Amino acid sequence: MEKKPTVASSFCLLLLCVATSTVAEVLEAHPHLHHQPHKNDGSIKLFVFGDSYADTGNVRKSVSPSWKEPYGITFPGKPAGRFSDGRVLTDYLAQFLGIRSPLPYALRKYAKKSKLENGMNFAYGGTGVFDTLVSGPNLTTQIGFFQQLLEQEKVYDKRDLIKSSVALVSVAGNDYTTHFVKPGNGSKDLAEFTKSIVKQIAVDLMRIRDLGVRKIAVTALEPMGCLPLLTSFLSYQNCSETLNLASMFHNQVLRQNVEQLNKESKKSAFIILDLYGAFLSAIKPQKDHQGKMMVQIDDPLKPCCVGVGSEYSCGSVDESTGAKKYGICRNPERSFFWDTVHLSQNGWNDVYSSLKSSLHQLYS
Ligand SMILES: *[C@@H]1O[C@H](CO)[C@@H](O)[C@H](O)[C@H]1NC(C)=O
Ligand SMILES: *[C@@H]1O[C@H](CO)[C@@H](O)[C@H](O)[C@H]1NC(C)=O
Ligand SMILES: *[C@@H]1O[C@H](CO)[C@@H](O)[C@H](O)[C@H]1NC(C)=O
Repeated sequence: MEKKPTVASSFCLLLLCVATSTVAEVLEAHPHLHHQPHKNDGSIKLFVFGDSYADTGNVRKSVSPSWKEPYGITFPGKPAGRFSDGRVLTDYLAQFLGIRSPLPYALRKYAKKSKLENGMNFAYGGTGVFDTLVSGPNLTTQIGFFQQLLEQEKVYDKRDLIKSSVALVSVAGNDYTTHFVKPGNGSKDLAEFTKSIVKQIAVDLMRIRDLGVRKIAVTALEPMGCLPLLTSFLSYQNCSETLNLASMFHNQVLRQNVEQLNKESKKSAFIILDLYGAFLSAIKPQKDHQGKMMVQIDDPLKPCCVGVGSEYSCGSVDESTGAKKYGICRNPERSFFWDTVHLSQNGWNDVYSSLKSSLHQLYS
C-alpha cells in the first residue's frame, strides 16, 4: 500500500474549525431517544469507548465540525456533537437496550445525577487504540476515566455493573489513518501493525471486563477502502480492494483474539459487531424477492455533505464572509455516507438493521 498524503490533509480538515458555546446550549443540544423497543427494568447501563462512530458530544466545540452546521440537522435538528446529520451507532445500541443514549463524559459535571443512570459515553472523535493525529484521549485513557468514576468517585457500583451492563468499543479506523500517513509505513509493516493494534485491543477489552462490565461489544473494522475519502479518486464508483483487504485482515485477527478471550472468560463476555459486513450489505445494490434491483440508497459511495473544493470539507465556512463552503445532497435520508468518513443517520440505521441479530447475544 502506498502512503496517501491526501488522507492526512482531508482528515485534519475534518477536525479544524472554530465555534463558541455555552454549557446550556450543550445540554439542550443533547436530547434523547423516545423509542424503546427493548424491555428494560431500568438498571442496564451502557458504557461507550472509542471514536467518532460512537462519540455523541465529547469532542470540544472549539475544535470539532460535529458542533457546526450542518451536523445534527436530522437529529436533534441542530449541531449537537455527533459526527453525522443525526443518530450514530451509540444511539442505536442504546435504543436496542431500551435506554436513553448515555451522557457524554465531557458533559457530566453539568448534568443532573439522574442523567448518569443510563451509563456514560467516553468516546472521542478522532481517537484510536494508540495516539492518533488528534490530541484526544486514546482508548487506554478513556478506560482510565471510567475506572476513576468507578473506583474514586464511586459514581457506579461494581456489583450493579456485573448484573447488567454493556460496553461498546468502536476503534481502530483512526489508528490505520495515522499509520498510513506516517512516512515509510507501507504494506510491509501493515500486518505487524494490525497485530499490535489487536493485541492492545484485547488488553483493553479484558480491562473493561475486569472493571465489571458484563457484555462487551467491539466493532470490526469497516471496509476502509469504501470510505468516500478514498473513493473520491474513483468518482465514488468503486471501493479500494487493497484497503478492504487490510480491513479484512484486521477483522480476522480480531476474531481470533476475541474467540480466545471468550474461552478464557467462560461466559462469552465479548461479541464482535460486524461493521464490515454491515457496510457492504448497505452499499451493494440489493435485489428483492423477485430479483428486481431495489434502490434504497442514491449513489451509495457518495457522501451527502461535501466541501466545494479540496480545501473545504463538510461544515466549512469562509472565514471572512461566513459563506458556506459545502453542499448537502437533496435527500440525506437516502444517503449512506454523511461526510468523507462518517455515516448519515440513514446509514447507521441500515448498519443497525444488519447488526440487530447479533445484538441479541448481549442478553445471553
Ligand atoms: C495513551 O495515552 C497516554 C497518555 O497520553 C499514554 O501515556 C499512553 O502511552 C497511550 N497508550 C497507548 C496504548 O498508546
Ligand atoms: C510505522 O509506524 C509506527 C507506528 O505506527 C512507527 O513506530 C514506525 O516507526 C513506522 N515505521 C517507519 C518505517 O516509519
Ligand atoms: C469499477 O469496478 C467495475 C466492476 O466492479 C469495473 O468494471 C470498473 O472498471 C471499475 N472502475 C474503476 C475506475 O476502477
